Amino acid sequence: MEADDSVEPPVSFREQANRVNRDLWSQGVDEQWDRATEVLDWYQPYESVRASDHPPFDWYTGGRLNASHECLDRHLDARKNRLAIRWEGELGETRSYTYLDLYREVNAIAAALRDLGVETDDVVTLYMPVLPELVASMLACARLGAPHNVVFAGLSADALAARMDRADSACLITCDGYYRRGDAINQKRRADNARMALNHEIHDTVVVERLGELSLGENQHSYGSLLTEYAGTTVDPVVRRSNDVLFQLYTSGTTGEPKRVTHTTGGYLSHVAVTAQDVLDITSEDTYWCTADIGWITGHSYVVYGPLALGTTAVMYEGTPDHPDPDRIWSIVERNAVDVLYTTPTAIRSFMKRAAASPDAHDLSSLRLLGTVGKPIDPSTWEWYYTHVGNEECPVVDTWWQTETGGILVSTLPGIDAMKPGSAGPPLPGVEAAVVNDEGQELPPGERGLLAIRTPWPGMARELAAAIEWGRNAVGDEWLYLPGDEAVMDEDGYITLLGRVDDGLTVDGQRIGTTEIERVIVSVDGVAEAAVIGIDRPLTTAVHAYVSPTLRTDVESLRDVVCAAVENAFGPEFTFDQIVFTPDLPKTRSGKIMRRLLVSIATDQEYGDTSALRNPEIVGELERHDDSET
Ligand code: WTA
Repeated sequence: MEADDSVEPPVSFREQANRVNRDLWSQGVDEQWDRATEVLDWYQPYESVRASDHPPFDWYTGGRLNASHECLDRHLDARKNRLAIRWEGELGETRSYTYLDLYREVNAIAAALRDLGVETDDVVTLYMPVLPELVASMLACARLGAPHNVVFAGLSADALAARMDRADSACLITCDGYYRRGDAINQKRRADNARMALNHEIHDTVVVERLGELSLGENQHSYGSLLTEYAGTTVDPVVRRSNDVLFQLYTSGTTGEPKRVTHTTGGYLSHVAVTAQDVLDITSEDTYWCTADIGWITGHSYVVYGPLALGTTAVMYEGTPDHPDPDRIWSIVERNAVDVLYTTPTAIRSFMKRAAASPDAHDLSSLRLLGTVGKPIDPSTWEWYYTHVGNEECPVVDTWWQTETGGILVSTLPGIDAMKPGSAGPPLPGVEAAVVNDEGQELPPGERGLLAIRTPWPGMARELAAAIEWGRNAVGDEWLYLPGDEAVMDEDGYITLLGRVDDGLTVDGQRIGTTEIERVIVSVDGVAEAAVIGIDRPLTTAVHAYVSPTLRTDVESLRDVVCAAVENAFGPEFTFDQIVFTPDLPKTRSGKIMRRLLVSIATDQEYGDTSALRNPEIVGELERHDDSET
């Protein structure tokens, strides 16, 4: 990116930004992150920011706190009647919770959970869409020092059971169902099926009534009845050490198995609060909306913990941002006079392309800052967001981070740094990043390589902080975390992300490895081999599967079995956009499947020389399939 393509932050924004001073950050890593004292109200101050400069990295040692206190109790004096949550259902209904309302509900549910036998350090699984009750349940768990394990509501019964088994979780909070794109989805049935598939005993299930279809079996309790029964009961927040677990969450790994990621109370919460303040620029006076589902890390960090720790009003919604009306996203911004909007490039692209989804008919003048996350944002989408949504008055922060990092690590500071459309920006103050080659050696500006984070940060997952060997974070003697993203850095230290190296896909907000999907397909009887690719579409990624059956398999019945197996593994919302049965897959001479070639065929791009293939004849065969199926 040329220097003259950069855009300075609008003056009106600069003048009010939370962070306008760089001097504060010209210090060392530990000094940067010492701001945890500023954003949180510790019961007991920490003795040191970081215990050591080699693993295990413990953050804020000696510090004591409770996340539910940080997000609720400490706000009561100043803003008990300010809104914590404004929620909109898919049917158009709205619900508002003040900080006092949320405090009361969290206390009642915490009291109920304690009486059901939930003890400190017991893992409680939450299986719900974005409902205020999900937020209350998370904070109730935090209050008890019981780590929560949120499982995305769209995942299947098997996926839920596997995550509960791995977490040895004996208590589940779910709902009767919810609305998504006009369908009423029966969540309780899935939860009951998971219960039967578990390898360990589950004690209690608490069920939130969303559809008005509550039916309770043995050891199942109505959330609403518990709320009435425990109304007015308070529970003292359990005093947690900084390094105690706040929650765990599963994400896609490189091996095909879902990977557990554990986040700590002090390090994680400080990181998300500091970055919500510095990067998303939110204050307790703001109405802020992050469109992510709480079932993923973005929702944990920047729908729930970051904004509530800062005392903000957080907008939440059920369903999707383009249903029932294609411009629902802009109606929600307008109706709630949202100050800060944080969404994904995929969503922006889809609104950009459809006239009926245009923001032009809406008053978006309340907006002050725009953010994106999840994927690289291309310059034309960036321009459109900046101009049509932000009216050239709102900075755009393109924030790079991941489940394992807990919070944002790479982004411009919106009141200070020039923006370069297409590039996320420099690493945040307190973060040292580089682009390296496969051996971990730093590459000069302009050369493409792997993004590497060279110093630890407070929001790092415990697995990562604990081990040198975890993932691929050790190269030689130097501690280094390789997040699995390709990148290039320019002369100014701005980082442009180029995509994942492990063929990961993001489908409906869910990060899934292509290998994970392939594993499920090849586990089906009659399948010899499979390759899965993702193709970018508005709102989501289209998934194409290329399946080669064993000899004498009936292909049509195989199609149904493959679809059923995949739905079982990733949830009913997961579907293939295309399945192609082929006698063989394109492979290099060393036997590697050439997924890039499959992407080129599926998107009608030039694929150039196929001489590196062991079986070039298969290309013509696949092209014929592609023509007949689309
Ligand atoms: C990708 C979501 C480019 C990246 C917070 C990362 C991005 C993965 C950006 C993590 C961005 C996230 N620009 N790519 N601004 N933000 N990514 O764990 O590949 O669901 O490794 O966390 O999303 O996905 P995850």
